[in-house]
Amino acid sequence: MPDPTLRFLITGGCGFIGSAVVRRLVASTPHEVVTVDKMTYAASEDALGAALGHPRHRLIRADITDAAAMRAVFEAHRPDIVMHLAAESHVDRSIDGPRDFIDTNITGTFVLLEAARAW
Ligand SMILES: NC(=O)c1ccc[n+]([C@@H]2O[C@H](COP(=O)([O-])OP(=O)(O)OC[C@H]3O[C@@H](n4cnc5c(N)ncnc54)[C@H](O)[C@@H]3O)[C@@H](O)[C@H]2O)c1
Repeated sequence: MPDPTLRFLITGGCGFIGSAVVRRLVASTPHEVVTVDKMTYAASEDALGAALGHPRHRLIRADITDAAAMRAVFEAHRPDIVMHLAAESHVDRSIDGPRDFIDTNITGTFVLLEAARAW
């Protein structure tokens, strides 16, 4: 029996790790993929490769710290699996600008967890 089709929500799906996950899921599985990305300096649509515009992939530009937007994503797309890869990941930048790290890595993760729990 073939695997059931699942819907993945990938945050940070236009980043280094997230885009590899999205490309792999779209290319090698029957699953649906919803990417949420704020499209910071670290993001690239090109990194999505063939997943960009693929019928089983949807790219949503949104900030994970935005609770209303995250609730709306969960309600609209009803994911089975969430992979949280959105982050401020370049640690050197935190010396000059720690705010983005606190917002995304701590508050954003909390907001995402609350949205998942509420849904
Ligand atoms: N790259 C590595 O070698 C590596 C190794 C181990 C763990 N990790 C972890 O994996 C995760 C992803 O790393 P990466 O290298 O892909 O990082 P990255 O910086 O390449 O990508 C992060 C993505 O998150 C998005 N993003 C940032 N803030 C956001 C927000 N508020 N809302 C929505 N999207 C937002 C960015 O636009 C970007 O596309 C991080 O938690 C990192 O610590 C990475």
